[in-house]
Amino acid sequence: MRVFVLTGAGISAESGLKTFRDNDGLWENHRVEDVATPEAFARNPALVQRFYNLRRGALADVAPNPAHVALARLQQALTACGGALTLVTQNVDNLHERGGAADVIHMHGELARVFCVACGFHWDAQCDLTPQSQCPACQTKGGPRPDIVWFGEMPYHMDKIEAALARADLFVSIGTSGAVYPAAGFVQAARERGIQTIELNMEPSHGSLYFDTAHYGPAGTVVPIWVADLMTAIKLDA
Ligand code: OAD
Repeated sequence: MRVFVLTGAGISAESGLKTFRDNDGLWENHRVEDVATPEAFARNPALVQRFYNLRRGALADVAPNPAHVALARLQQALTACGGALTLVTQNVDNLHERGGAADVIHMHGELARVFCVACGFHWDAQCDLTPQSQCPACQTKGGPRPDIVWFGEMPYHMDKIEAALARADLFVSIGTSGAVYPAAGFVQAARERGIQTIELNMEPSHGSLYFDTAHYGPAGTVVPIWVADLMTAIKLDA
């Protein structure tokens, strides 16, 4: 069986990371336009770098919750019997990896990564960034920026994502409001291909009518139950 899972901020909420749309449109007390757009970075690079330094630093204070761990266990079990679980996340945290998942596709980038606007080099963040930070590849000062897909920018890995979706037997959306495209459109693409669709979320998402099945509640509870039920149904060893 090939399972395609899309996750959003809701899966990390019980780990202590705030979602985007549950806080009056503010992300950690900032308007998205002030910290998550290329224009904001051009206007005030120090503010934007500081914002992402804080988000990156906060990762050390949180841990994966049972939803991250259950997905990783399902991925391992499916892989062991010749199946697959493609894990695509809109999240920029690293909790899927820390929960044991492999090959996580971060379509909106990663807090733990940096890239250089001058030469395009990508690398693992070793320390906080400032407007004076220098690119290790081309030495440009001020070149490094958070490796985050900001509003108005193209999400990463779309070819790989579309190929995995086309091969999937089951599409599962977890902890996302379905407000931001292209991720919000994956469920319709899955349906058009006749792929079964399941939503696991705190509440019905914007695209809830496109799902064949839904389980509403906190991800830390509903995801492990769904994983256990699926593993029993397809006779996978835990
Ligand atoms: P949102 O904040 O839009 O939605 C989070 C969803 O998670 C909501 O539907 C909540 O009801 C649900 N939720 C909250 N707590 C939950 C819990 N404990 N268990 C399960 N569900 C829970 O976040 P995303 O859909 O991820 O993009 O947002 C998508 C994109 O918009 C983000 O990746 C980001 C943002 O702007 C970029 O930065 C480009």
